[in-house]
Amino acid sequence: MRIGVDYYPEHWDKSLWEQDADLMQKTGVKVVRMGEFAWCRFEPTEGNFCFEWLDEIINIFSMRNIDVVLCTPTNCPPLWLYEKYPDAVQTGRDGQKIATGIRGHRCYNNPDFIRHSKQIIHNMTKRYADNKAVIAWQIDNELEANFCHCEICIGEFRNWLKDKYGSVDAINQAYGNNMWSGEYSAWEQIKPAYGSNPYAWFHPSFMLDFNRYASDNMIKYVKMQTEIIRENCPDTKITTNTWFCENMPDFYKTFKELDFVSYDNYPVSKIPEDPEDYYTHAFHLDLMRGIKRDNFWIMEQLSGGMGCWMPMQQMPLPGMIKGYSLQALAHGADTVVHFRWRTAVSGAEMFWHGLLDHSNIPGRRFREFEQLCIEAKELEYLEGTKVKSQVAILYSSDNEYAFKIQPQTQGMYYMEQLKLFHAAFTKYGMNVDIIGQHEDFEGYKIIVAPQMYITDEDVVNRLYDFTKMGGTVILTNRSGVKDHVNKCIMSPLPTVYRKLVGAYVEEYNPLGEDIITLEFADKTECIGRQWCDILCTENAKTIVSYANRFYQGKAAVTENHYGDGLAYYVGTVSEKKFYYKFIKYILEATGIDFIDGLPENVEITTREGMGKKVQFVFNNTDMAQDFILYDKKLHLEPFEMKMNHL
Ligand code: GLA
Ligand code: ZN
Repeated sequence: MRIGVDYYPEHWDKSLWEQDADLMQKTGVKVVRMGEFAWCRFEPTEGNFCFEWLDEIINIFSMRNIDVVLCTPTNCPPLWLYEKYPDAVQTGRDGQKIATGIRGHRCYNNPDFIRHSKQIIHNMTKRYADNKAVIAWQIDNELEANFCHCEICIGEFRNWLKDKYGSVDAINQAYGNNMWSGEYSAWEQIKPAYGSNPYAWFHPSFMLDFNRYASDNMIKYVKMQTEIIRENCPDTKITTNTWFCENMPDFYKTFKELDFVSYDNYPVSKIPEDPEDYYTHAFHLDLMRGIKRDNFWIMEQLSGGMGCWMPMQQMPLPGMIKGYSLQALAHGADTVVHFRWRTAVSGAEMFWHGLLDHSNIPGRRFREFEQLCIEAKELEYLEGTKVKSQVAILYSSDNEYAFKIQPQTQGMYYMEQLKLFHAAFTKYGMNVDIIGQHEDFEGYKIIVAPQMYITDEDVVNRLYDFTKMGGTVILTNRSGVKDHVNKCIMSPLPTVYRKLVGAYVEEYNPLGEDIITLEFADKTECIGRQWCDILCTENAKTIVSYANRFYQGKAAVTENHYGDGLAYYVGTVSEKKFYYKFIKYILEATGIDFIDGLPENVEITTREGMGKKVQFVFNNTDMAQDFILYDKKLHLEPFEMKMNHL
C-alpha cells in the first residue's frame, strides 16, 4: 500500500519546495498529485507555455523517489481564455453565462475551449512522456455530467437524439409526447429544461434522455483527453478522480475509457447520530471497487476538518486519519493520496484543512499520518491481493437519474435502498461488491437488485438466468415500473419480474414519512416505512406481512423458488433490525458462510491472491470494542484495524 499527498507547488513560495519534499520523503510519502488547477501558470498568456517550474518540482520529487501523478488542468481555464472566448463558459438554466472566477464551469463542447485543452494536454503529455517519475495522469478534476444550456450543447443533445431515434416522430412516439401538447414537429423545438420549474414538471422520458446525454457527453470529453494522453504516453495509466455529486455520470461507462478508478474520499469527521450511517464509508468504497471489479486509488483522502462550502466541521478524531486510510485499503484501495499536504493560506479553500495547518508546524494529525506511512510500508506485501465477493448489489445510473427526476415518496432516495442491504451484509462480515447492472454476474451467489425501476431487457433476462441456475436474487418495490424510455408499463407490478418473484402488487401505498408495522412469521415486529406494495402471492411464500392498516395480513416480503434458485421480493422499506434478520435468513437458506455477532460498525473484509488471504477487522466507531471472533477475545481501540492471516 502506498500513501501520497495532493500538492500545490503553485501555492507556495519556491523556498518551501525542497523543505516540503524532504519532509515527505522522511515521512514515507510515495506519491504526489499535482497540477489540476494550475493552467494559468502553465500558459500565462495564450500560446505561451511555461513548464519549467513543473520540471523543477517533478525533479525535486523524483530525486527523493517520490512518484508523480500529473493532472490535465482543464477544470480551470485561465481568465484570458474566458475573456477571449466568452462562450467557453457554461450557460445555466436561466440562459445566462455562469460567473467566472470559480472553477469547473467550462463548456465541454465549446470548440475554443476544446482546442486550447487539446493543445495544453498535448504539450504536457509530450513533455513528460519519458519522465519516469510521472506514473499516471488524472483527467480534469471531479468531473460532472454537466447541464450546459448553450446553443452548442443543445445542438450536441439534438445530435445525440438523432443518433438514437432518427426522427422527431420517432421521439414523439417513444416518449408519448401528446401529453400537454408536447409533440415535436422540428428538431429546433427540442430544448433543455430552461427556467426555474422543478425538473418533475418536464417530461420524464425527455429528462432521462437528457441525463443520459449529459453523461455520454462528459465521457466524450474524457475520451478526447485520453486519446491525446495515450498517443504521447502509451504506457502511463490514466484515471479521473470521481465522487458522488448531483449530476453523476455513469461511472461504469466512464471508467471503461480509463485504466483505474480513483475516488475522493471524505468520510465524516463528526460521528453521525444515526449509527446506520457508519457503513456509508464502506458502501462508497465498495461501489468504487465495483466499478471495474478491481482495486482502486483514493486520490483525495480526509486529512483535517472540512469547511469552506459550509461552516467548518469538526476536526478528525484521534485515529481517523490512519483508520480511514486503512479502511480504504481493506476495501481494495492500493494507493491513498491525502488531500492536502498543507492547508491553503489563500483562496476559497483556506479552511479545508490538510495534514499540516496554516502554521506549517506538524501537529497531532501529522503525527498520525507519519504512523500511517510506517504501517503502509509494512503492508506493501499485500500488493496484488484483491477483494473477492459472493454478494453483489446492482447500481444503475438510469435508476439514479429517474428517481431524481420523479421522487417516488417523501424521504425515499435510490442510493439509500442500496445502502440498507449493503449495511446488513457488512454487519455479517462479508465482502460486498456494488456493480453496474450491465456487468457480469459470474462468480456471485447473491445479487441484490434494489428498485429496478427503469427496465432494461438484457438485465431482466440475466436476472432470470442467474436465478434459474441456482443464484439468489433480492428484488424490491419500484421494480419493473418503467420501460427503457421512462414510461409506465401497463401490467401489474413488478411487471417483467412477476414470474421471477411469483407474486404481484395488488395496490401500493406511498407512505412518505408515515410508518406501518411489519411482522415476520415468528411474530417479530419491525417498522415499515416509505412504501408498501400490497402483494398477492402466486407461487411465492410470504415471509413478512403487514400487521396493521387496511391491508393487515397481506404479504410485504416474499420468497419464490425459481429454477434452481431463490427470488425474494421486498415490497416495503424497513429498519436496520429487519435487514439484519432478513439477510441472516437468506444467508442461512443459501448456506453461505458469515460471521455472526459482530458489534455494530465493526467491519470485516478480506483480500486474497498471490498465495495470501488476509482478513481486516476495522472498528469504525469512536468507542473501544471488545468481542469474540473465532473463539478469541479481540479488543479494538476507536478506528483501529487489526489483521488476521487466514
Ligand atoms: C474536492 C476537490 C478538491 C478540493 C476538495 C476540498 O474533492 O477535488 O480540489 O476542492 O474537494 O474542498
Ligand atoms: Zn455548452
